[in-house]
Amino acid sequence: MELGRAIKNRHSVKKFKDKKPDWRDIIECIDAARYAPMAGSNYSLKFILVSDKNLIEQLADAAQQPFIAKAHYVVVACSNPSRTVNAYGARGEIYVRQQAGAAMQNFLLKLEESGLSASWIGHFVEEQVKKTLGIPEHVHVEAFFPIGYEFEKKYTRKEKIDLDNILYFDEWENTNMKKSKELDV
Ligand SMILES: Cc1cc2nc3c(=O)[nH]c(=O)nc-3n(C[C@H](O)[C@H](O)[C@H](O)COP(=O)(O)O)c2cc1C
Repeated sequence: MELGRAIKNRHSVKKFKDKKPDWRDIIECIDAARYAPMAGSNYSLKFILVSDKNLIEQLADAAQQPFIAKAHYVVVACSNPSRTVNAYGARGEIYVRQQAGAAMQNFLLKLEESGLSASWIGHFVEEQVKKTLGIPEHVHVEAFFPIGYEFEKKYTRKEKIDLDNILYFDEWENTNMKKSKELDV
């Protein structure tokens, strides 16, 4: 799939078909997360592929979002900040969260290319998730992703913010690009 199409077509899915995804396809999508940029090339992210029904129900409970329990698989993304924080101090904490986002987006785009769907779950009781999956205290649970085949491909894209609203030129709040004669082109 062309990258631009994957970027634009990706969307959150909360209703899945009964058809069970092949877990190997999900592993391939996790593999794409290895290619994200990481400060100092210290890879801080770990993924847990959860297939146990009881554990998935507990994750749904930790998020108070019942649709999660209907997924055959949930992928949980966790950051271990130790090495990055050792290398970069307080900014390392920020880097860890930024690079987690970059890697998780790679993962989502690869799911899109594979015909699989997910929803990004960021609202949950972290301690409950850690207890359910035996995740150590010092590790952050970044997000989790219930995965499946979209129930109905009758998707109309949510309204996205206009480019004008997110772009400045040269300085904060300057919304105009220099005229072309002022540029070196
Ligand atoms: C950091 C973050 C946390 C999110 N948490 C949740 C969540 O807990 N539950 C949920 O249903 N969607 C969650 N979402 C998904 C957003 O609601 C969704 O991406 C947004 O509505 C845009 O829709 P789209 O993904 O279809 O483009 C989260 C997304 C992000 C980036």
